[in-house]
Amino acid sequence: MTKITAAITAVNGYVPPTVLSNKDLERMVDTTDEWITTRTGIKERRILDEPGKATSDMAVEAVNGLLAKRGIGPEEIDLIIFATVTSDLIFPSSACILADKIGAKNAFGYDLAAACSGFLFSLETGSRFIESGKYKKVVVVGADKMSSIIDYTDRNTCIIFGDGCGAVLLEPNEEGMGIIDSVLKIDGQGRHYLHQKAGGSLKPPSHETIDAREHFVYQDGKTVFKFAVKGMADVSAQIMERNQLTADDIAWLVPHQANLRIIDATAERMGLGKEKVMINIDHFGNTTNGTLPLCLWEWENKLKKGDNLVLAAFGGGFTWGAIYLKWAYDPK
Ligand code: UT7
Repeated sequence: MTKITAAITAVNGYVPPTVLSNKDLERMVDTTDEWITTRTGIKERRILDEPGKATSDMAVEAVNGLLAKRGIGPEEIDLIIFATVTSDLIFPSSACILADKIGAKNAFGYDLAAACSGFLFSLETGSRFIESGKYKKVVVVGADKMSSIIDYTDRNTCIIFGDGCGAVLLEPNEEGMGIIDSVLKIDGQGRHYLHQKAGGSLKPPSHETIDAREHFVYQDGKTVFKFAVKGMADVSAQIMERNQLTADDIAWLVPHQANLRIIDATAERMGLGKEKVMINIDHFGNTTNGTLPLCLWEWENKLKKGDNLVLAAFGGGFTWGAIYLKWAYDPK
């Protein structure tokens, strides 16, 4: 019997129209365009500032476009995996809200929380459902409205993050395209260095938690940077070795967009030149779960059937990993 693999058969993205530039941030906190550019590679990011709009609204745009591109209706979706740290509500899941808004009446679904590695973990999970043979169309969404949990008086974090959403469709493939291998990891010791202190069951919201600004992202940047540089490069090198891939075999590195210096270190470890690395951190910043699918969306026209891609991420938890996949279609 032919082996079924899970291939990405369509990709789409959405970012909100409002731009928050480094120059804008210079007016909000004690920082400079020069500092942000040299330390992170970011020039601007998008912010969802329309009142009443949440993470699922970006996903509606991305997924409706995804379905249109593939020429299928929402009722054909079997499963929605929604990777996010900024779900519209604590519960129910954003997958439920999205399914309702787009009319995915025959799907089940759930949110997956793995911070910046959420899209990778969701891709792995979604691919297993496809490989089981029971599910034919799985939508994997990576979306975050980071501006809803960012303290715009904290220069350590507000310069980094932006809002955005990407989504892919996974379908069965019998030509050996799609997700081939993965190395995925978690280490909860890392939770002390990147987290949101209040709002969960440990510290439910109260006047005190609001006054202490504990509903915002806290990050010990230096420590996270140290672990991210090593973690992302290690798993990327490991997945190459395991699959006997040389730098020449790899068409593209699709890295999480947290810091250009982390991306460069990973590419260097893999022996890849800049021309093989997808980088959009300059205009989107770090969209957490959105970074990887937004890269695929922006680069879709350059991707050819059979291209070997390595996707890699590192984030809060800590969570990190790499996925090796073969792109399944030529540019339209
Ligand atoms: O996506 C999830 C995973 N997250 C990451 O992978 C992020 C990892 N961390 C980073 O990307 C970097 O650590 C940051 C971009 C967050 C910070 O860069 P850094 O080079 O590690 O800077 P730092 O925190 O070591 O700070 C260096 C200096 C400090 O001043 P002193 O103590 O040397 O006088 C900071 O106070 O830069 C100062 N600083 C700033 N200056 C201007 C920190 N933030 C700013 C700022 N503007 N926005």
